[in-house]
Amino acid sequence: MNTGRPLLSVCRRGVLGLLAGGSLAALAPAVRAQAARGAGRAGLNIGIIGAGNIGGTLAGLWVKAGHRVMLSSRHPEQLKGLAERLGPLASVGTPAEAAAFGDAVLVAIPYGSYPQLGRSLGGALAGKVVLDAGNPTSSRGPELADEARASGIGPTSRKYLGNPRLVRAFSNLGSGVLAREANRPPPRLAMPILGDDREALELASRLVSDAGFDPVIIGTLERAPDTSMGGSLSGVQTTAAELRRRLGLN
Ligand SMILES: NC(=O)c1ccc[n+]([C@@H]2O[C@H](COP(=O)([O-])OP(=O)(O)OC[C@H]3O[C@@H](n4cnc5c(N)ncnc54)[C@H](OP(=O)(O)O)[C@@H]3O)[C@@H](O)[C@H]2O)c1
Repeated sequence: MNTGRPLLSVCRRGVLGLLAGGSLAALAPAVRAQAARGAGRAGLNIGIIGAGNIGGTLAGLWVKAGHRVMLSSRHPEQLKGLAERLGPLASVGTPAEAAAFGDAVLVAIPYGSYPQLGRSLGGALAGKVVLDAGNPTSSRGPELADEARASGIGPTSRKYLGNPRLVRAFSNLGSGVLAREANRPPPRLAMPILGDDREALELASRLVSDAGFDPVIIGTLERAPDTSMGGSLSGVQTTAAELRRRLGLN
């Protein structure tokens, strides 16, 4: 299908300058389907793996924006109350069901649990657009924190999550800040995101925007430490314009 509509039109202006243009026909089939839905601004399906502080907060924001979310964890039965409070756009499943459900998947579990999650999913995230919010920390998975330091957070996340199209997002601000500041009157709060895959970044930009923040693509996964716990952008609450100025982006 070639709608002639640039994929970039699904994203907010301002993010666009950092990306090259491209038509839907030029994209891989999975992303083309995602983009086609995005072009009509129909709600997307978002799988949420880990529905705690971060996952639960973002689920609420995405439902508010009209997206369908599937909440999951190792104990999905415990998420039924949250899904009921979120309404008919929210459902509950296993992590494998959430992975299959999502046009995009948010992973928001303790970083030390990534290997277990990856094993349990058996490759279900391969090629999926995954928003990775996890922070490698010594307290929640010391071995993996060491590996992430040595090999890079992006490669480590990709390895254990089974080679998804990875975007780092929502890792630099606390869930309380996300809940409080989402959709604030302009200028909205900036959300730095990064990744190596242009189309995945486009989709992630839309989801960041729909959650109520201004996405700023700050680079490739090599910069992941900047937005992770202890990084230079950790806890930084600022506008997109100020963030771009600070980082020397356009
Ligand atoms: N909290 C914040 O403000 C914040 C900010 C930025 C980044 N982060 C990062 O985001 C991630 C999540 O943090 P959080 O505070 O939201 O954690 P949380 O409140 O403890 O929630 C974690 C969720 O993950 C699920 N889970 C744990 N292990 C799992 C597994 N192996 N498979 C599937 N689901 C699993 C848990 O449910 P079950 O135990 O029932 O499976 C729970 O729903 C962490 O990596 C953290 O570093 C957190």
